[in-house]
Amino acid sequence: MGKLQDKVVIITGGAGGIGSGMAKAMVKEGAIVAIVDLNEETGKAMEKELQAISPKSMFLQANLMDRENLGQIIKKVVDKYGKLDVLVNNAHASKQKTIEETTQEDLDFSFGTGFYPTFYLMKAALPYLKETKRNVINFASGAGLEGHTTQGAYAAAKEAIRGLSRVAANEWGKFGINVNIISPLANSPGVQAWAKAQPEYYEDIKGKIPMGRFGDVEEDIGRVAVFLASEDSKYITGQTIMVDGGSIMLH
Ligand SMILES: NC(=O)c1ccc[n+]([C@@H]2O[C@H](COP(=O)([O-])OP(=O)(O)OC[C@H]3O[C@@H](n4cnc5c(N)ncnc54)[C@H](O)[C@@H]3O)[C@@H](O)[C@H]2O)c1
Repeated sequence: MGKLQDKVVIITGGAGGIGSGMAKAMVKEGAIVAIVDLNEETGKAMEKELQAISPKSMFLQANLMDRENLGQIIKKVVDKYGKLDVLVNNAHASKQKTIEETTQEDLDFSFGTGFYPTFYLMKAALPYLKETKRNVINFASGAGLEGHTTQGAYAAAKEAIRGLSRVAANEWGKFGINVNIISPLANSPGVQAWAKAQPEYYEDIKGKIPMGRFGDVEEDIGRVAVFLASEDSKYITGQTIMVDGGSIMLH
């Protein structure tokens, strides 16, 4: 029996990067994982990889910017599997610009891919999570915690997600639902693109990691997500878990 045996998990942005790392770690613990992603090609490839271990796992193609369709994602998963145990709001896209350069469109993009899907998917998932009494895992960033330059739209959406998560932890504790936040550092395609675009910034962040390296999406981040999705973490809620090699030490 795995730590997540027969648990039904939704992971947004699960076709690549940290999302795929978490999906792989979770199916190895017996979970059935529905990955939701914009990218059909990587989504289908990841679906195959997951199904080799967990045959019922699936890929759902969706653009999380389509706010009115978010409820359908939860419905499709519950219709298929009969329940939902864990919601992981991992997807987020944004543009790196100074506040002076940031437009309404940039704000809409960051909040539209990160904050709003997190909010509406949590809301749509609540009736089902009340039944299973399980978990929500949301995603923050050191960029928000520390206010990194050129990350205004991203940092604001990430801190909005943290605020929302703490409110949900307070409101939903009585239902037995845990809501926690991972603030990761990992070598994903997103980070590789950012390293290319802003090499000095990347080296600066890398140089400040006490563990001396960016994390592995499955071994480092995925294993912590397994813990947060499992019974082992049932007395932890409303917390930001820094999975960043020690880069930021909360106090
Ligand atoms: N990688 C890091 O070091 C790091 C650091 C801090 C925070 N984070 C956060 O961790 C999470 C995962 O990051 P990552 O680096 O793996 O990201 P990534 O950019 O490598 O992957 C994101 C995934 O989300 C999907 N996606 C993007 N927009 C979408 C949309 N509109 N609809 C559906 N799917 C969409 C992409 O296709 C991709 O598969 C994000 O919330 C990110 O902000 C990552």
